[in-house]
Amino acid sequence: MCGIFGIVTSKEQPLGELLTAAARRLMYRGYDSVGAATLRDDGTIDLRKDVGRVDAVAEKYNFSEMVGRRGITQLRWATFGEPSQVNAQPHIDSDGDIVGAHNGNVVNNFKLRQQFIAEGLTVRSENDGESCVHAVEHYVNKGYDFVDAIRLAYGDLAGDYAFVIGHARDDRLYAIKKGSGLVVGLGEDADGQPFTCVSSDLPSILPLTRRIVRIQDDEIIILWPDHVELLSVKDGQRIEREPEIVTQSMDAVQKGGYPHFMLKEIHEQPQVARELLHLLNEASEVNTFIEQARKARNLYLLGCGTSYHACLLGAVYFAQIAGRAAIPVLAPQFIRQYAPAVNHEDLGVFVSQSGETKDVLSALQVAEKRGMTAIGIANVIGSTLTKAAACWLPLGCGYEISVPATKTFTNQVVTFLYLAYRLAGLDSPPLEGIPDLMEQTLEMTAPQMEALAGEINSWNDLYCLGYGATYPIALEGALKLKEITYAHCEGMLSTEFKHGPLSAVSDGYPVLFAAPPDDVPLIVSGINEVTCRGGRAIVIGEEDARLRGEASDVIALPKAGPAISPLLAVLPLQLLSYYMSVRRGYDPDFPRNLSKTLTVD
Ligand code: F6R
Repeated sequence: MCGIFGIVTSKEQPLGELLTAAARRLMYRGYDSVGAATLRDDGTIDLRKDVGRVDAVAEKYNFSEMVGRRGITQLRWATFGEPSQVNAQPHIDSDGDIVGAHNGNVVNNFKLRQQFIAEGLTVRSENDGESCVHAVEHYVNKGYDFVDAIRLAYGDLAGDYAFVIGHARDDRLYAIKKGSGLVVGLGEDADGQPFTCVSSDLPSILPLTRRIVRIQDDEIIILWPDHVELLSVKDGQRIEREPEIVTQSMDAVQKGGYPHFMLKEIHEQPQVARELLHLLNEASEVNTFIEQARKARNLYLLGCGTSYHACLLGAVYFAQIAGRAAIPVLAPQFIRQYAPAVNHEDLGVFVSQSGETKDVLSALQVAEKRGMTAIGIANVIGSTLTKAAACWLPLGCGYEISVPATKTFTNQVVTFLYLAYRLAGLDSPPLEGIPDLMEQTLEMTAPQMEALAGEINSWNDLYCLGYGATYPIALEGALKLKEITYAHCEGMLSTEFKHGPLSAVSDGYPVLFAAPPDDVPLIVSGINEVTCRGGRAIVIGEEDARLRGEASDVIALPKAGPAISPLLAVLPLQLLSYYMSVRRGYDPDFPRNLSKTLTVD
């Protein structure tokens, strides 16, 4: 994710405090490292950056003494390239007269770095933000003016990103975006002097000004102190856009206009899945996984809680798509059940949003002692898991603030689905439709789930059932429901329900089913067992006359097929638990007794 902020003022002045304050307000986008650069009237650039949180780095490097007419700051959420001082942003070009910073992912970074090194440019880090700077430098060296160099660089930089860049010997900043968000602010300081600023998001801009311009893809913005100019990347033509006035409160802005982070993060899922697919297409670690998985004797998938549910679904995908058996296991149980039997011929995939879960790290330690190869899948890069594993894949979700995992779960599942197709020998997994299908699912099901939450909210006891690839989804839906509504909700294989739990069913008793498209007759049997006893069978699945005919309620998903449909089915379950939690007067972002990162046994 990462966050960027840049400001252009009308005279040289202390900018360090202002940049630190802006960085603090972007911390929710990343906190692995922070940096600030000021561009001074004497044509020099003052660049200070390091690993750590904003306040610590700002104090250590005396950001408060930084002076300039223009300034840039960046908060990093590492994806590729570990959190380190050299990978921290902003970055300078080879001779130090261009400085820039980005957020997002440049997915052809590896190739570009090799090209820049071959050209003789000074490449100091592995970070893709540095590639943005060299991509511009590359065209400046060929004689293009700065704006044309940025326009051409934009064509070379693939992925989803935004970046801000400035030249030591002029008085402007320039910014551009592809996929990611970018907003510009226009205001006046306390002395009535004009300034303009640009950022990946509004929280860093709103305390300075509420006059903003939203930038679109394929546009380049030039910032002077008193005005901004918007140009088309394609033909350099001027684009006219009037500023708008933002009236939302700061709290609402931080939550992206949603009442809770959980709802914001639920709605971010299509975009983070899109970005992840781009990342996976370029990640050399995918090949490492394929090589290791092909030669491994046994393949274990380990995690806890929600991440374990992703492992369960991963194992279904590996078997169904790649014909490769995998053993999903709760990380602490691995220690007693499997560790005594593993050795260097085995491979373990350790899955964790935080990368700090003690239960996962303890299993990893035991596995490595036994010589097993460990691959990590984590959202927080730089976390202990990413350092301890032989190699790792990022989830690329940005900061997940809400305690219940949502977007990190779906990106874990997308990762497993992608790996399963690659293991099956497909170089281009047919997954590019996922983000749009997720968007459609959220749109189609949200009103229904909000209404349903009202109808079943009085029940403190529910079941959530699935079969095959939707069994892990049923477990995950049940976990979300109990986590934030405090109701008892049990997730179960649908065929097991008749072996005992069916006795719970009474008039109106809600049983949720996640129906896999290939197993509708089996789900229909389960539905009938519930409805004939007066229970309410609520089915989530693709439109199907058999489900319509038998279920009490059908939550229809867009047609996606047996591999992708289970992934979509979790979205309405997330929404249901969210709406029920809010109806009960709870804060779904911070459920009682729970913590986002569990570093204890
Ligand atoms: C539930 C949830 C937890 C985590 C579990 C593991 O919404 O978030 O069940 O999945 O505590 O955490 P990570 O993935 O950080 O290892």
